[in-house]
Amino acid sequence: MKWKRFAAAVTAAACSAAMLTTMPVSLAEAATAVSNDFEVEYEGWYSTSDAASLTAVEGIGYGGSRGMLISGRTAPQDGAASSKGFFLHGGTKYDYSVKVYSETAETFRLTLLTKDIDTGEETLKVLAEKTVQPGQWTTLSASDRAAFNSGEYKLTLTTDSTNDFRFDDLKITTKEKLIVADAAELGLKDEFGAYFRIGNILNGSTVNDSAIKNILLKDCNAIECENETKPDQTLKSVSGTDVTVGFGSGAAAICDWASKNGIAFRGHTLVWHSQTPESFFKQGGNWVDKSTMSKRMENYIKGMFNLYKTQYPNLNLYAYDVCNECISDDAGACNNGDGARGRGYGQGNSPWVQIYGNNSFIEEAFTYAKQYAPQGCKLYYNDYNEHASYKRDCIYRTCKSLFDKGLLDGVGMQSHVTANANDWAGGTEAYLNAMDKYLSIGCDVQVTELDVSVKGSSESAQVTKYKTIFEHAMNWNKSHPRPKNRVTLIQVWGPNDGHSWLESGSNGLLYTSSNQPKAAYNALIDMVPKSEWVDGTQYTDEGEITPTPREPAKVDSNGYWLHYDFEDGKQGWTSRGGE
Ligand code: GLA
Repeated sequence: MKWKRFAAAVTAAACSAAMLTTMPVSLAEAATAVSNDFEVEYEGWYSTSDAASLTAVEGIGYGGSRGMLISGRTAPQDGAASSKGFFLHGGTKYDYSVKVYSETAETFRLTLLTKDIDTGEETLKVLAEKTVQPGQWTTLSASDRAAFNSGEYKLTLTTDSTNDFRFDDLKITTKEKLIVADAAELGLKDEFGAYFRIGNILNGSTVNDSAIKNILLKDCNAIECENETKPDQTLKSVSGTDVTVGFGSGAAAICDWASKNGIAFRGHTLVWHSQTPESFFKQGGNWVDKSTMSKRMENYIKGMFNLYKTQYPNLNLYAYDVCNECISDDAGACNNGDGARGRGYGQGNSPWVQIYGNNSFIEEAFTYAKQYAPQGCKLYYNDYNEHASYKRDCIYRTCKSLFDKGLLDGVGMQSHVTANANDWAGGTEAYLNAMDKYLSIGCDVQVTELDVSVKGSSESAQVTKYKTIFEHAMNWNKSHPRPKNRVTLIQVWGPNDGHSWLESGSNGLLYTSSNQPKAAYNALIDMVPKSEWVDGTQYTDEGEITPTPREPAKVDSNGYWLHYDFEDGKQGWTSRGGE
């Protein structure tokens, strides 16, 4: 074995060993790693350019089924792609096959891009290349051993022209045995399953990380994209009042994963002053007028809900942040008006306020969201510093008015707080008061972006803060049992300290960067007696869940989650690769 491969294998084994200490895994035959027939969903595929569009069309697929069409290409590299990192494992040999079709003779190319986790170095491999006859389906196939230590396995399909093409029935299979995490493992979602959902976020990079995926499957029954469904990643083009939207690589992979695993998906966000391109608000370098902006807003909101409906109809789109961070941090603006931010673009100013003159765009956004959101998708106003009294009261007034008009379902408390109980940045009492105040509107409340920074404080204060927030939410729901439980989500903003927006050293999350549960996690997991845990995968927003308590996985008498002594043969272990 060459040294580099040996080192990678050792790293992979060490990672697996780290995983084994925290979760049971089963050795299972996994002949088919990926099977995309496109009959119902887009299965993580997206167009690689803004110009070209990818559509599922009935009757044009292989054998007259539904198939994928890529059209409007302006360059040969415009094609279709999909990140399969959550489904492929480094070191395993896979067989790839995909059916392709074109009305013209074309050379099709299927490539695989991998990205080294440590160095970020990208490697692009041509898996298959074939010139096909016009008007007939052809199979592109290849065999390839997946790179070790890769944080990305992205497939791309293109041709050497700009002509339209179709594809269908992508399959990735393996003859090797895979270690498959036991999705039935119990965690926070089961512990708190009688009270509220437990959520977390994924982004375009963590969606390729299998260790993170396993943690989320254990703890979460809700997911949100960190950045991938924000306007700067979904707006493809704006012209006059026309708006085109689409999912990029991360959003497509995350929706696909959530849909396939029955994990509820929270949309974030439609109307925001930040992470929205300036061009959305302008025409020929000038701000557009209010009626043009209103049409653009409507078309964006309509287009986004339509994307989920057409591409991921099985996805449980249970909640959406319609507006994010519209209330100013300026006490005067909150006390004496509607809390509008300053006018303009950038530096915390709002282009929405620039065009509307005040915060009246909020009600308009909720009106459109109400019109276009699917049934069961609850509509949220989401903000930070939501515990600061003047801002809290302004958010309260804004949301109460929307709730009374039947437009809003809930308030999202971002909850970027610090561990210090008396800190201005989310001191415990102010924070809990704010939660109660929002609940007094009569709407739902979700903790949407929780992290508890330890900067200037201690890990034990962090443990207390996490527990206090969970306890308060749980107590409110205990006194208002399902389906009246109106704190419906506690969502942590990041899977581990290595994937956090907080500055280094803040360590605000529940797992270390090497995916070990921290003191805060261990404290939370002991809050509810095991006899009261339920099946969190069955959580519904309507009320009933499987009442049967689930037995959590047990350690054996030696304290091992797993113990192979090989006295009775291989006990499910096989050789890896050619070794
Ligand atoms: C705000 C936004 C989030 C995210 C965080 C930082 O809270 O709502 O989408 O950008 O800032 O990660």
